[in-house]
Amino acid sequence: MMCSKTVRSVPGSLLLAVIVLGLLSGCGRRSEPEFTADPLTQTLLPEAQAAVREQMDQNFGTVQQLQVPLEAPINWGGINGTIEQVSVAEGEEPHWGVTISGAVERLSGEKLRVVSSSDHVPGFPPVLTVQSHSGRDGIVKFEEELPADATEPIRFVAQPVHRLLTGQALYMQHCSACHGVSGAGDGPQSQILNPKPRDFRYGLLKYTSTSIGHKASTDDLRKTLKQGIAGTGMPAFKALANQEIDQIVDYAKYLAIRGEVERAVATDAAIDFSKSAAEGQDRQELAADLEDYADEDLPGIFQDEIARISDQWQQADLESSIVQPALTLPEPLEPSRTDESLTSLANGRRIYLSKAGQCASCHGETGRGDGTQTQQIHKRPDGSPYEKPGLHDAWGHLVKPRDLTYGVFHGGRDPVEIYRRVFAGVKGTPMPAYGMSGLSEPEIWDLVNYLLYLAGDYPDVNESDLESPPASN
Ligand code: HEC
Ligand code: HEC
Repeated sequence: MMCSKTVRSVPGSLLLAVIVLGLLSGCGRRSEPEFTADPLTQTLLPEAQAAVREQMDQNFGTVQQLQVPLEAPINWGGINGTIEQVSVAEGEEPHWGVTISGAVERLSGEKLRVVSSSDHVPGFPPVLTVQSHSGRDGIVKFEEELPADATEPIRFVAQPVHRLLTGQALYMQHCSACHGVSGAGDGPQSQILNPKPRDFRYGLLKYTSTSIGHKASTDDLRKTLKQGIAGTGMPAFKALANQEIDQIVDYAKYLAIRGEVERAVATDAAIDFSKSAAEGQDRQELAADLEDYADEDLPGIFQDEIARISDQWQQADLESSIVQPALTLPEPLEPSRTDESLTSLANGRRIYLSKAGQCASCHGETGRGDGTQTQQIHKRPDGSPYEKPGLHDAWGHLVKPRDLTYGVFHGGRDPVEIYRRVFAGVKGTPMPAYGMSGLSEPEIWDLVNYLLYLAGDYPDVNESDLESPPASN
């Protein structure tokens, strides 16, 4: 409220002008963007929040000074490596040798940030300034004095993180208005959008080529940015160069990993140190427990979660994680591969309307998205009922089953994409993964045919064709 103070003494219409100008100029002082704490972190005791915050900053940096954990499968464009003591000759003081990975051969003048030392040498400086680095034998000299008892390799990263900074700048320009500075889906424009922009902090994306339980692949993210999501506020960024898309994708992944790690750590911390868990506890005892937890447990929990979540993102890029059907889309009026007495289309409709398929209970008999489940009160994961009738997604928003007659497939209308939607579901939504619940590949292809029919792709096929047996050949 800095602005109103200066305005208070100014009278009448001038006041209005000052306010308008003030609003336009942001009072001349824009507040710096910041990562906001996850709602879960905000349920913690203030001291626990501070401890989580400190570890977050240490592992991921701040908006102004990004840092990337080494495990994260993010191309941030920097250098990382290890330094290790090497003794040169007997009787001589040991030297420090360096191994680097990255597009740089010499480190002279760089500042190296120490990210871990397996034996946690006390007194090891957190930042090392390289005085000289010999390319010939890899020996480095530092301005800082290093403890001689550090015998294990020490890992470091060198700032700056050029590539990620470009990704960040592009993200702030093109994405933050909807997805927010922290990737929480809470940018200023998010309020008018339905569905809401994705909150990346769940690490959960809807439209992926990957199998059940897997995150999105790098290619999935690229595709979402290039093609947008039809039928939603997510635009297609056609004017961005491939290299720019890749840089934004890495930054979006950074936000996703950062956010999911915070959620996981806050979940753990909340067991003992949430405001509600602390009620009625002995304050001094709790403070002592919290100090132990912050010093002894928290750094390890961060490392474990970073490793676990990074690994999941890495998994999603393996070929074995991609849903790749062996067959292709049959002709709609060909005999079904599972029941020769029916056409592929008729078998698709049979499954659609069947008890096992359940499609109609959500999407409605005619596919208009008005099935009975949309009128029922459903339960939250914790068992409590939602206030409003209808289906909800993992982010807690109401979500309508798609009107399948509308002809818009948000995940893409290529038959393989539709196959993947039915096989692996729409992740984070009630749309089930039928590849897990027993539908075979030929059955899913028949369903894809019926979905294309509902979407209007087969204008020459009549209702009566659906009833008649396939033409014998
Ligand atoms: C005008 C608002 C808007 C802008 C700008 C925007 N998005 Fe989105 N984005 C959305 C909405 C809305 C959705 C959710 C669509 C849905 O749930 O089907 C979304 C979804 C996504 C998803 C999730 C896809 C999935 O499979 O779940 C990703 C990733 C994404 N956006 C990245 C970006 C990036 C990166 C940028 C900037 C280059 C960006 N978005 C710009 C509105 C926006
Ligand atoms: C429990 C409810 C439920 C059932 C059962 C269900 N769906 Fe869905 N389905 C949804 C919801 C909700 C969405 C929309 C997700 C979104 O918009 O994020 C959806 C979306 C879809 C989409 C749109 C994908 C896209 O790219 O836009 C298709 C296609 C689809 N469902 C087909 C089916 C088929 C076929 C079946 C039966 C085999 C089925 N659904 C069963 C709830 C359901």
